Amino acid sequence: MTQLSKDHLISLAKEFGTPLYVYHAEKIKEQYQKLTTAFSNSNTVFFYACKALTNVNILRYVCQLGANVDCSSINEVRLALHAGFPPTRILYTSNGIAFSEIEEAQSLGVIINIDSLSNLEKFGQRFGHSYPVGVRLRPNIMAGGNLKISTGHDKSKFGIPVDQIGEVLAVVKKYNLLVADLHIHTGSEIKDVDVFVKGIEILFDIIPQFADLQFIDLGGGFKVPYKDGDTETDINLLAQKVGAAFASHPNPGGRPLQVWFEPGKFLVSECGYFVTQVNVIKETSAATFVSVDSGFNHLIRPMFYDAYHYIENVSNPGGAEKKYSVVGNICETDTFAWDRRIHEVREGDYLVFRNAGAYGFEMSSNFNARYKPAEVLVKDGNAHLIRRRDRFEDLLRNQIELSL
Ligand code: LLP
Repeated sequence: MTQLSKDHLISLAKEFGTPLYVYHAEKIKEQYQKLTTAFSNSNTVFFYACKALTNVNILRYVCQLGANVDCSSINEVRLALHAGFPPTRILYTSNGIAFSEIEEAQSLGVIINIDSLSNLEKFGQRFGHSYPVGVRLRPNIMAGGNLKISTGHDKSKFGIPVDQIGEVLAVVKKYNLLVADLHIHTGSEIKDVDVFVKGIEILFDIIPQFADLQFIDLGGGFKVPYKDGDTETDINLLAQKVGAAFASHPNPGGRPLQVWFEPGKFLVSECGYFVTQVNVIKETSAATFVSVDSGFNHLIRPMFYDAYHYIENVSNPGGAEKKYSVVGNICETDTFAWDRRIHEVREGDYLVFRNAGAYGFEMSSNFNARYKPAEVLVKDGNAHLIRRRDRFEDLLRNQIELSL
């Protein structure tokens, strides 16, 4: 297993300070290679869902590995271009955005997925047949780790409901749209590969109606392990089942369809470590609270999704295990873990949160006027600072001070 050692993480904490996000490049590579190896016999392309982590060095590294990139805002598109992705390898899967952003994406030459009839209509009026377009459909499938990260069900805002396919076809016909791909994304942390097969089966009924189709985009959402005994989505089984599903549905007119996936967590969750230091230990009748030098301003997943992040005391691995409630230093309840067994914790110890690469730094904020953490990339054994910690002037940046 590609992993950074406790001693390495401690030395990085000492060198760069805490709280600190550390990313391990080789782990990203390992995950990407799992995908490409499993799908090596099929016509499949992976677009890194960069909403998980957009540091430009990560984007550059992923680009060098050979993956394409999936963006969810025009600024992610700009970052991807800045990182060196050519427009043809950038997918912009828009959601509820102003049409002006789609016009901008078109002018940048990237691939565009549209997720509403309204924007599809505007796209038709503006570009007609002159620029290919993808259509994001909502398959009405419930999938994903929890409701907040489920996107394909029949109450979700994402995509055009499949039952409105008649309306989609009417817009396509009216403007002679060149629909190059159909897209579905049902959620995040999907362990059951049959969810993807179910999605494909729904699309098979629709595919024959789109004469220009070249790609089927099945979105992201592969599960990664968070704790001992957890397993990730079985990618080999997925490759086998997706291959079998397409083999049993010969493409209309013999057109070979390329399959796309948009993994975010699968590529970057496990590469990330969030290193914190213990400020205070507070014994109470309810719990022994361990306050670290962070909070939901830096890692919001435990509070927002009840997400489990394995927490390790890297500076006292031989200490007796005890139960602790790990909390932050934010002036609001910000519990990372209740009653968690951790090797004895002392003030000054380093606590490391695993699976911190995806949606960790990316969802951080300056709440309580605290600094955002620094980010470090470890590649070939060398540590590179890829974002300096905020400074006081960063808190004032963009503020316009009046002389009141
Ligand atoms: N494609 C689309 C269209 C998406 O909306 C997403 C994630 C992905 C791909 C990548 O999904 P992944 O492979 O990372 O599961 N912040 C939440 C996850 C929200 C995911 C949003 N969309 C979390 O921290 O659990």
